[in-house]
Amino acid sequence: MGAYEDVFRRSQADPAGFWAQAAQAVDWDTPPATILDDSSPPFYRWFSGGTLNTCHNALDRHVAAGRGEQAALIYDSPVTGTARTFTYAQLRDETARFAGVLAGLGVGQGDRVVIYLPMIPEAVIAMLACARLGAVHSVVFGGFAAHELAVRIDDALPAVIVSASCGIEGKRVIEYKPILDAAIAEATHKPGHCVIVARPQAQAAMHAHDIDWQAAMAAATPRPCVSVAATDPLYILYTSGTTGKPKGVVRDNGGHAVALTWSMKNVYDTHAGEVFWAASDIGWVVGHSYIVYAPLLAGCTTILYEGKPVGTPDAGAFWRVIAEHGVKTLFTAPTGFRAIRKEDPRGELTTKYDLSRFQYLFLAGERLDPDTYRWAGELLGVPVIDHWWQTETGWAVAADPMGLEQLPTKPGSPTKPVPGYDVQILDDQGNAAEPGTAGQIVIRLPLPPGCLPTLWRNDEGFRAAYLSRYPGYYLTGDGGFFDADGYLYVMGRTDDVINVAGHRLSTGEMEEVLASHPAVAECAVFGVNDALKGEVPRGFVVLKAGIEADPEVLAGDLAQMIRDKIGPIATLSRLDIVAALPKTRSGKILRKTMRGLANGRDEPVPSTIDDPATLDGLRPILRP
Ligand code: COA
Ligand code: AMP
Repeated sequence: MGAYEDVFRRSQADPAGFWAQAAQAVDWDTPPATILDDSSPPFYRWFSGGTLNTCHNALDRHVAAGRGEQAALIYDSPVTGTARTFTYAQLRDETARFAGVLAGLGVGQGDRVVIYLPMIPEAVIAMLACARLGAVHSVVFGGFAAHELAVRIDDALPAVIVSASCGIEGKRVIEYKPILDAAIAEATHKPGHCVIVARPQAQAAMHAHDIDWQAAMAAATPRPCVSVAATDPLYILYTSGTTGKPKGVVRDNGGHAVALTWSMKNVYDTHAGEVFWAASDIGWVVGHSYIVYAPLLAGCTTILYEGKPVGTPDAGAFWRVIAEHGVKTLFTAPTGFRAIRKEDPRGELTTKYDLSRFQYLFLAGERLDPDTYRWAGELLGVPVIDHWWQTETGWAVAADPMGLEQLPTKPGSPTKPVPGYDVQILDDQGNAAEPGTAGQIVIRLPLPPGCLPTLWRNDEGFRAAYLSRYPGYYLTGDGGFFDADGYLYVMGRTDDVINVAGHRLSTGEMEEVLASHPAVAECAVFGVNDALKGEVPRGFVVLKAGIEADPEVLAGDLAQMIRDKIGPIATLSRLDIVAALPKTRSGKILRKTMRGLANGRDEPVPSTIDDPATLDGLRPILRP
């Protein structure tokens, strides 16, 4: 039996014993009395009775262990032409001081803090400062519009919001403060204060409740770590589901620290003192788990990169960062590599850099197409590891666990379930599917540590969205199958979620925006395959009778509404005004039928339409 098989079996045979052992890698103030609390299924809690502090585990413990002078965080920002390194001691001190700022504004254990920041060190410091105080952060991705931010403010009810004067997208300065002000104006809940990072590229208009980051830091008294329950929330991260109301995924402290620490060693084979780079954004789960928490919990150096893989300054940006900072492990989304390949098809820019310390390329966030997989592998000469997970799980569900054993790769598959996850494929009746037969990908409960215990103040929503379809199982929302060798293949979402350039979005939410226009009778939004971004949204709209607007102008207005309400990341690739959409007798729009027809496939119907051209073949159906 190989190392993977052995560890996987142990994790299934005795989950409590397995995770009790893993928990020894974390510093506890009080060791957990119960490893797995299964007293109220389908809700499970890990490490009940245990107390700890996540910030202590990410920073203070490493300083105490002699890593104070090691680089903890390297901020590399080609868009501003700056770079800055924080040692573990410096990052701890800045974090303790910002915890003092928050405490001075009345933030205490359990209070929420919304963080709406670009990729600057203050974002990491603010997250860790919340963890230090036992406060609950909720980071909102900078590419979301004011309305999205307002919806999250009204759900999380933050005491304080941390933001900045601007973000920088390529050569463009995106002012954040007007977006923040508009969000607060729209939200019912008003935060007590906003702490604003003044960046030199834009000046923010400051209001009575706004506080300047630097001034507040200068006046603050550093705060120590607070001991919290393992089961207390560390953060809320909102993610897209079927409707316009995003789901507040809750992450706890204990399970999260244990699972992420385990993953660094066993999945990523990256250890204290080594350099780990997740080229993502702190607004997504990849940024939470693998820019901030996991590398720091493991005592690594993490990189915070403010820029794109191409254009800042060229398609060699990733190779420059890898060479300059000695990156061992890079984690990004396939779309980033597709963007590089488009600009530099032969990868000639790699020859300008010393990539000798680079050992692994991990890709996730969307499907890795075999073409990109092969291109990256041949170019870089390192293992290219596709792994599959979601905001809800917080860490990899299926991967080639490099720290355990390198399993043979099969292009198109994220390899096998990671120890801790009992992944199964079920058909519509709840029966296990045969190898090679597609169905819903589910995970048998309990989910391992680190996965969401529930949704923020919404146990019923958690049950309804994830646990009710197949009792005893967590519904991932992805369809797929196992092959005869136990390799998992993920075919795509079976719900209304799409992934645009690694950004998770809801087509249902886009439909809600379109439907709110007075001229729109009904509409449907689908993901269609895209060579660069993986998927892009495309919309169909039926107008109310008697509307005589210029279709082109109206289509432009509708597309702009989506940008204004959801954000530029949700920009529609195309919008068609059609005569009708297919419906049931009761008047329900047959979205799944449309997707199925376009893909020429049976259930489970993927959310993406494989070949956008087939939609044109649907035109007869889209007419009365
Ligand atoms: N703040 C403000 N605006 C943002 C933003 C942010 N943090 N992130 C994206 N946007 C805007 C962009 O400026 C763009 O606006 P525009 O339509 O006005 O030009 C729009 O949202 C779409 O952005 P994006 O989807 O990123 O497309 P792009 O064409 O700018 O770049 C890639 C395409 C592939 C280069 C880019 O998506 C990329 O680097 N992806 C890497 C993978 C990644 O980070 N994935 C995250 C999860 S792992
Ligand atoms: P997010 O919650 O933003 O991380 O998005 C999670 C979704 O992205 C999953 O449910 C999948 O649909 C998709 N996804 C993530 N990783 C992969 C992968 N390696 N292969 C295929 N799809 C993936």
